[in-house]
Amino acid sequence: MSKPTSNHPLQDFYADIYPTYDLVNRIFTFGRDRSWRKKAVKACLLNRPDSVLDVCTGTGDFILEVARRAEPGLSLSGYDFSEDMLNEARRKQEELLGTDLPPINFMQGDVGQMPFEDDSFGAMGITFGIRNLVYENSNATKHLAELKRVLKKGGRFVVLESSKPGNMVWRVFNNIYLRMILPYLGGLISGNLKAYRYLAKSSRNYYTISEMSGILEGAGFKMVKGESLFLGSVMLVVAEK
Ligand SMILES: C[S@@+](CC[C@H](N)C(=O)[O-])C[C@H]1O[C@@H](n2cnc3c(N)ncnc32)[C@H](O)[C@@H]1O
Repeated sequence: MSKPTSNHPLQDFYADIYPTYDLVNRIFTFGRDRSWRKKAVKACLLNRPDSVLDVCTGTGDFILEVARRAEPGLSLSGYDFSEDMLNEARRKQEELLGTDLPPINFMQGDVGQMPFEDDSFGAMGITFGIRNLVYENSNATKHLAELKRVLKKGGRFVVLESSKPGNMVWRVFNNIYLRMILPYLGGLISGNLKAYRYLAKSSRNYYTISEMSGILEGAGFKMVKGESLFLGSVMLVVAEK
């Protein structure tokens, strides 16, 4: 089922797992991911931006939730380098045709080089995507600079991501779960063990809220808040340009 489509291994992973991506997300988060995204959307819309960019939009769950809560006139975009994930997002958008949902512009491309003017978006969100951009990634600095460049001054940058739990006992359970369960079950459902090994490994080794804050501050963002969710396995971090 492997489709060698690019010279970027991550792009190939997502080309393989997109049909089952949403299902695996629901199972592995015990359905909690929906409520975390809602929280992230609320934080993103708090200052009533005129436009929202969802970076690494994947199958579009974050920006679709923004659309559900959007005030008239809000311009919405989703950006990702996996055409397969984007097609899933477009399919979900079409399912909602006939409802009052505002249009979403789903665009394909690399975060390292985004086709947007400086200061284009009033707010920006990234859910379970920043790990891909900075963890063991030689383009991390470039990715962060691009994220800052396209956000308007004063605009909010909302990050929802896996996190390393502070509590030792929970960290041990979390590690066992990410090492022994997630890769194999995810691999079984999606047919791509390698992709879920990478996703589990990057989740396991990912940052605490204060490490994430340090990365964002280092890239020139100002921290607004960091909130720990699911006993610290997930973080919601809000920064500002
Ligand atoms: C774990 S998925 C998250 C999808 C979605 N945001 C969610 O909440 O479920 C990460 C997404 O990041 C995208 N991605 C990773 N690196 C990227 C890059 N350099 N440029 C654009 N998209 C990228 C992948 O294609 C994938 O769809």
